[in-house]
Amino acid sequence: MKFESKTVHAGDRKKTGTFIPVTTPIYTAASYFYDSMDQLDRVFGREEQGPSYARYDNPTTSALEDLLNELEGGHGALACASGMSAIHMALLAALLDRPKRVVAANALYGATTNLLMNILSPLGVEASFIDICDLDAVEQAVAETKPGALIIETISNPLLRVGAMDKIAEIAKRASAALVVDNTFATPMLLRPLELGANIVVHSATKYLAGHGDVLGGVVVADQEHIQTIKTLSRTMGPVMSPFEGYLTMRGIKTLALRMERQCSNACKVASWLAAHPRVERVHFTGDPAHPDFATITRLFPKNLYGAMVAFELKGAGRDEVFRFMERLKMIVRATSLGDVHTMMLYPAMASHRDLAPKQRHRLGIHDNLVRISIGIEAAEDIIADLEGALV
Ligand SMILES: Cc1ncc(COP(=O)(O)O)c(C=O)c1O
Repeated sequence: MKFESKTVHAGDRKKTGTFIPVTTPIYTAASYFYDSMDQLDRVFGREEQGPSYARYDNPTTSALEDLLNELEGGHGALACASGMSAIHMALLAALLDRPKRVVAANALYGATTNLLMNILSPLGVEASFIDICDLDAVEQAVAETKPGALIIETISNPLLRVGAMDKIAEIAKRASAALVVDNTFATPMLLRPLELGANIVVHSATKYLAGHGDVLGGVVVADQEHIQTIKTLSRTMGPVMSPFEGYLTMRGIKTLALRMERQCSNACKVASWLAAHPRVERVHFTGDPAHPDFATITRLFPKNLYGAMVAFELKGAGRDEVFRFMERLKMIVRATSLGDVHTMMLYPAMASHRDLAPKQRHRLGIHDNLVRISIGIEAAEDIIADLEGALV
């Protein structure tokens, strides 16, 4: 099946007794009953498939895991309570039998950086941060630190830089390190990291996968080497997604292809319009031929599906001017998330990158005049009209 057909069918229609539900229902049971103790014994021993206890598995979230595994092309998946719990599980699984050292992108989502610096580091995991768009820097950091894992994001936040993932995967493989990729911004519709040599893919399902602003969830999809470790860790640590969130995420994914097509196409229109506006100093967009990583983007992404995030800098503006501009928006929602059907705008210096010292933010290119838009599925004309009204 093609990607679009998989989003609608994969994971569904598991036989339960004599009937087969067309779409997977919400199973809320915490534990499961079998006719014979011998069968329960086989289920507990994992010789026979079936749910036994909700921390181990659940039919609703298992269906979602099958669906995501199909979409990412893995050897198994784990649905988690949040994107952050998924990232935690992925890093633990990658490092369990390897040196406790991580080479990480210097432009990771803030909480991922916090996880490395403030939780894993006191437990003995050393992390070094580098610019993953500079392959020499990746090569050098790997040679110098001999890491157990590398962690990168497909599209960085908020400046939307794209590293050459296939080449980074080769460097990781040569060093016997696991490559963990956060694919939240791209989704498997745009890029499938496991096909490019990554070992573990993670998502904040809260974003494009669920897509409607009503789910908190995460997912890990892994290769054969890591999936069993992830499942075993999960059975003990219990970071699992609730069946209700699993149901909503699965329902959301059925329209992922339609939403992404529309959101990517809207993003192209909005980015071109912004680039021509006299109050806009600079636009950051993965579909812009002048983007510093455009050669990598066109090599790795499908044609015209370059992502639906746009960042831009307001000419001569500081924090106050940006705040007033954002308050003038009428339809675009000022909110701290992304990937939903509605267009959302965020001010990175106040939200995602608030914890960085101003000097460090500026060094990363995140200036006080930068805003980030997650483009939704509305009519592009309405998104543009709202920006035009606010850019006075
Ligand atoms: C790229 C990325 N990864 C991970 C996360 C964390 O996901 P969650 O909020 O679902 O824990 C986020 C949240 O914004 C994100 O943007």
